[in-house]
Amino acid sequence: MSEFREITPGDIPHRDMHQLLLSGVAPRPIALVSTLSKDGIPNLAPYSFFNAYASNPPIVAIGPAIAAATGKVKDTYTNIVETGECTINAVTFAMTEQISLASCDFSPEVDEFVKSGLNPIESKIVRPARVKESPFQMECKLIQSIPLMRERGGNGNIMLLEVVKVHINEAMFINDRLDPQALDLVARMGYDYYCRAHGDGIFEVFKPKWNGIGFDALPIFIRESNLLTGAQLAKLAGVKEIPEKNEDLKALALIECSKIPELGKIYKIQPNIHQLEHIVSVLTDTDRIDLAWRLLVEFGM
Ligand SMILES: Cc1cc2nc3c(=O)[nH]c(=O)nc-3n(C[C@H](O)[C@H](O)[C@H](O)COP(=O)(O)O)c2cc1C
Repeated sequence: MSEFREITPGDIPHRDMHQLLLSGVAPRPIALVSTLSKDGIPNLAPYSFFNAYASNPPIVAIGPAIAAATGKVKDTYTNIVETGECTINAVTFAMTEQISLASCDFSPEVDEFVKSGLNPIESKIVRPARVKESPFQMECKLIQSIPLMRERGGNGNIMLLEVVKVHINEAMFINDRLDPQALDLVARMGYDYYCRAHGDGIFEVFKPKWNGIGFDALPIFIRESNLLTGAQLAKLAGVKEIPEKNEDLKALALIECSKIPELGKIYKIQPNIHQLEHIVSVLTDTDRIDLAWRLLVEFGM
């Protein structure tokens, strides 16, 4: 059996393809979209076919589908086409059960603010309300609605929306930066899964400010190591250049290693290739990349 299951869309039932796609294209941000019908009835529904595509001017898009079975168009879609406006509200962990309730197939005359218990607040530029519980709210105007393969039935749509005003809860700013832990956003995955961007789930990866040397420039014994992971190798491959040998820096590096308990007494000897792999593994995990390279250059190359 192959390591990979090969799937051609169209060969499997649409509902299965839908769940596979949604499981692999994940986690997706969730837009809680507030609209008004042309008669002024409020509507609120979550959309995870959602993302930002430009920031100057800010442009986002949502993807309301047309139900394959019934051919029914989403109220959100109709309202945006007819009025040209919506608000998009980010979804926090605390709001998840309520947005799930708002996603029920209520008829167009039902106000999902009332059903979900979420609270409307007046917008500044567009007519649809914002959602008070959301810490990040965008007022949007429709730029273009693009049908996707309409002749098939059950197709999707892309609605491109320009963000004309953003409202952010002051409490979300720490040192004038939006703090992900404070935001506590959730995202949608496949089936009934959601994921929460919080705690250990949030981490930082510093992108090199230069073009890294790349995996192909790593010494072969390191690149083919059974111990070092792709993440550890990527940290080594992210340096601007491989340092030159230097006896003084070698001595300093050994002193520095003597202060790292995980390395034991290994710093006292001339490490062999396997010991060097172990040392480099410890050093890359703790982001001591310069030191890792110093040892590689002095003892491995
Ligand atoms: C978290 C979540 C994300 C959803 N994302 C989408 C989506 O991207 N596109 C879509 O057509 N339906 C999506 N749905 C389903 C709609 O929310 C649901 O069909 C809703 O009844 C539409 O409401 P409306 O007709 O008032 O617009 C999602 C449901 C949930 C719970």
